[in-house]
Amino acid sequence: MSAIIQVKSVSKSYWRNSLEIPVLNNLSLEVQEGEFLGLMGPSGSGKTTLLNLIAGIDRPSDGELTVAGTNIAKLSESALAKWRSSHIGFVFQFYNLIPVLTAYENVELPLLLTNFSKAERKQRVETALTIVGLGDRMSHYPKQLSGGQEQRVAIARAIVTDPVILVADEPTGDLDKK
Ligand SMILES: Nc1ncnc2c1ncn2[C@@H]1O[C@H](COP(=O)(O)OP(=O)(O)O)[C@@H](O)[C@H]1O
Ligand SMILES: [Mg+2]
Repeated sequence: MSAIIQVKSVSKSYWRNSLEIPVLNNLSLEVQEGEFLGLMGPSGSGKTTLLNLIAGIDRPSDGELTVAGTNIAKLSESALAKWRSSHIGFVFQFYNLIPVLTAYENVELPLLLTNFSKAERKQRVETALTIVGLGDRMSHYPKQLSGGQEQRVAIARAIVTDPVILVADEPTGDLDKK
């Protein structure tokens, strides 16, 4: 069985003006299908940078990323966006909920990029919000929710498409243990 995530000799630098900020240097790792992997490291060590690369949100400066059988560093922008919508669920560190949309509408958003009917979308959104314990908060706006509830909406949005890979950036910071 081959790894579902293969990161091979990946480097990533950011550039500010002409100054290079090296973040990842020749990093390799594999994640097997069904594996649950946690990354730990101090603030600024490159965790978010690596997750963005694995999820196809950003591109490496060097090296190869094969995720769910696709070499994503080689895809065009539009192919990458399509690939993301069918493969990746992402829980952002700062939630990134849309303030003018309700919890229901925020969770429905990734489904609008798929071919699901309105009825199928409704079923999935209600299931995802119920799983995270927010079945009774669907019509609330983000500012009407607590930090932990907002974070759970972000988790519901990440699982609603039933993605192949769930990438979560500090997803439990505002949650209680259960
Ligand atoms: N868009 C960017 N432009 C320039 N530097 C960045 C950018 N994003 C992150 N960095 C730098 O990359 C390093 C790693 O950041 P990050 O991946 O967010 O770390 P972590 O998630 O582990 O706290 C930090 O030094 C940060 O300042
Ligand atoms: Mg981070």
